[in-house]
Amino acid sequence: MHTPTSLLPTIHHPRSVERLVQGRATQDGAGVKLTRVLTHELQQRLDPFLLLDAFGSDSRDDYIAGFPDHPHRGFETITYMLEGRMRHRDSAGHEGLLESGGVQWMTAGRGVIHSEMPEQEDGRMEGFQLWLNLPAAEKMRAPWYRDIPAGEIPEWQGEGVQVRVIAGRSNGVQAPVQREATQPLYLDIHLAAGAGLAQPVPATHHAFVYVYRGALMLGGQEVAAQQMAILAQTPASDGIELVAQTQGARAILVAGRPLREPIVQYGPFVMNSKAEIAQAVDDYRSGRLA
Ligand code: CO
Repeated sequence: MHTPTSLLPTIHHPRSVERLVQGRATQDGAGVKLTRVLTHELQQRLDPFLLLDAFGSDSRDDYIAGFPDHPHRGFETITYMLEGRMRHRDSAGHEGLLESGGVQWMTAGRGVIHSEMPEQEDGRMEGFQLWLNLPAAEKMRAPWYRDIPAGEIPEWQGEGVQVRVIAGRSNGVQAPVQREATQPLYLDIHLAAGAGLAQPVPATHHAFVYVYRGALMLGGQEVAAQQMAILAQTPASDGIELVAQTQGARAILVAGRPLREPIVQYGPFVMNSKAEIAQAVDDYRSGRLA
């Protein structure tokens, strides 16, 4: 707990909302029900972010099948568990248990094969998986992995606001993982009714806010639960201002520096060209991916 609200930065030109996106119900893995919020069509617009899935269910049938062994190449996955337990194992020899409030950050690089399986038989499972692209020069780097338990995620509190800093920096509080090329900012924001947050974000960075409880006001527009607000690229803007509606709100704010490189995705592989995708598929089929 750090700072009184009076020390928060002032945003002179807050961003407005360019458009609201409603997530799309889908299934992935062995039949896990989830909401795909950041879809394929938005990859250029929200570069360097490639995908955001929101999952949340009290019903075991919606999640129990999990995500058995599958490959990735060319990007990073950041899984944030609000509630629940998931066991992760990968071909680089990493294993970890992701629990409520924790984050698992995995850099696939040239390739991993991993599984993500629920380690609970019932109860609620809720959270997010965000895909962050790697620059061309790092797509074939060695895989990397880090579990960040709830207690190691830095946070700060002000009047009616609590911010957990998963990536980047907020109000002087720095996250444990930083990325030079994409400079990701990933905040989990809890606001009491009427409370607000001012967060500086460079005008050139792409940014979005996804509300998962309650509703908030952003650039004069109401953003309701299960909606993603894509924030406008306004050249003179210096940040983002949001205020909770009467019932309070919880939301994630995600921003990053666009890579402006070609994006070619085929399922779990994200590269810069079709030839690199063909290589990834070939490597996977012949057992050379990981
Ligand atoms: Co995966």
